[in-house]
Amino acid sequence: MKVILNCAMSADGKIALPTRRQTRISNPEDLERVHRLRNGVDAILVGIGTILADDPKLTVSEKYISEPSHPLRIVLDSKGRTPPSAEVLKGDAKTLIVTAENCSKEFPGAKVVRLGEDRVDIHRLLDFLSSNGIKNLLVEGGGEVMWSFLNRGLADEISIFVGSMIIGGSDSPTLASGEGADSLDNIRRLALKDCERLGDGVLLRYEVLK
Ligand SMILES: NC(=O)c1ccc[n+]([C@@H]2O[C@H](COP(=O)([O-])OP(=O)(O)OC[C@H]3O[C@@H](n4cnc5c(N)ncnc54)[C@H](OP(=O)(O)O)[C@@H]3O)[C@@H](O)[C@H]2O)c1
Repeated sequence: MKVILNCAMSADGKIALPTRRQTRISNPEDLERVHRLRNGVDAILVGIGTILADDPKLTVSEKYISEPSHPLRIVLDSKGRTPPSAEVLKGDAKTLIVTAENCSKEFPGAKVVRLGEDRVDIHRLLDFLSSNGIKNLLVEGGGEVMWSFLNRGLADEISIFVGSMIIGGSDSPTLASGEGADSLDNIRRLALKDCERLGDGVLLRYEVLK
């Protein structure tokens, strides 16, 4: 399975405000690119932190694609904290909530799969998705989930839109958070594939080296 990470960050590497509230970093050109990217994958994945902070729909907008493909939406949510009113549980696209095995929660409008003892095991999740025909997975954040995929060597590509702004703040979430590299050997190396001006921002595309 091909795993693509995508995110928008400020010029100082932040992906949200210090309060963790979402702020519009993508410009119109990048938004169109993201919706086209979503339309071309089988599934879009985020962590529960992103659901609680941003309440995203994770759909393809008809503003950009006249007949959207409705990729599967996936939430990593070990303890089942997705609110029943969450946008990700509404709309035409199907939703998969992935919890740990010790969580018994169910969600209206979503399928649930339980993988991992206390926390979702993303290796097992990728095996599960592959065996269910998912060939292209788009991971859209947040920082903790991005680091999990990078740290485990499970990401193939990363696209980063750099918006022309500084957010600042030592508490502002960054592109890859979690525990971070604990030694020089654990730093994730990238190979720059492409660099393109997109309106008033820049799009960087990297291969993640294994
Ligand atoms: N600019 C952008 O492109 C962009 C995109 C998305 C989000 N964001 C921002 O990112 C912030 C949220 O990021 P975040 O780091 O707090 O949360 P996150 O990465 O969205 O979600 C992290 C949570 O996912 C759950 N999870 C389950 N299994 C996991 C695993 N194997 N690896 C990692 N996480 C796992 C964990 O909670 P449990 O233990 O409860 O399962 C974990 O705390 C928000 O401020 C949002 O606005 C920005």
